[in-house]
Amino acid sequence: MMSEKQDYIIRFCDVYKQFENNQVLTGFNLDIIRGETLVIMGRSGCGKSVTLKIILGLLHPDSGQVFIDGVETTELSERELVPLRKKMGMLFQGSALFDSLTVGDNVGFALFEHSGKSYDEIEQIINTNLEFVDLAGTAGLMPAELSGGMRKRVALARAIAYNPYILLYDEPTTGLDPITATTINELVRKTQKEYGVTSIVVTHELESGFSVADRIAVINDGKIIEIGTIDQVKNSSNEFVQRFLAGPK
Ligand SMILES: Nc1ncnc2c1ncn2[C@@H]1O[C@H](COP(=O)(O)OP(=O)(O)OP(=O)(O)O)[C@@H](O)[C@H]1O
Ligand SMILES: [Mg+2]
Repeated sequence: MMSEKQDYIIRFCDVYKQFENNQVLTGFNLDIIRGETLVIMGRSGCGKSVTLKIILGLLHPDSGQVFIDGVETTELSERELVPLRKKMGMLFQGSALFDSLTVGDNVGFALFEHSGKSYDEIEQIINTNLEFVDLAGTAGLMPAELSGGMRKRVALARAIAYNPYILLYDEPTTGLDPITATTINELVRKTQKEYGVTSIVVTHELESGFSVADRIAVINDGKIIEIGTIDQVKNSSNEFVQRFLAGPK
């Protein structure tokens, strides 16, 4: 399956990242294929959110290289990162909505700030995106009036506002009941299909990961220790992967 011509949209080459004495990524290598939904799994604190923040350029590696669409981002200034970041949408762990803004203003936030589009155009995008996540007619509500699952959906409507081609999801289903989690998983797939985006989904929920993944990558001890299709990962001979998949005893 892996040919020389494989089209990688994101590449991590020998990345190291530590916080004081805490070595989080230690020779981390990862190639993400354009258009795939890659699920990254691993124990709490293993560096999943750090990996997403490095992709966004919110954190910088201590050493190693990160390429996005062939551009080495580790060398870029804050200013040079701006156009790249606009191509990415992020669903933060816990949704991170602005509580003092309406649902509509949350979805349109970046567009009102940076796009130069007219109010009517932005309103149109807000309505289309809210409809996409099955929340038509909620633009006037406040985040406090929403359930956890609705907040995630608003966060997704916001993440796609700029027509990104890379979508990053940090624990999109954690803390949701199974039915709501299924709805979110279906939306992850629908977004990949309809927008043709590359999706990177971080989760420690196995079922959720299996339901959305084209490929799964498992992090342990600062590295990707296994990557492949669901079947490949399920059949991994790596002991940590097997224990992780077996779940709590
Ligand atoms: N800005 C920071 N400053 C200091 N330490 C940090 C920072 N960000 C992350 N860390 C540390 O790096 C490690 C990895 O954190 P990260 O948030 O990536 O974990 P995670 O895999 O996303 O875990 P979880 O599943 O609990 O969300 C943790 O030990 C965390 O405390
Ligand atoms: Mg995290």
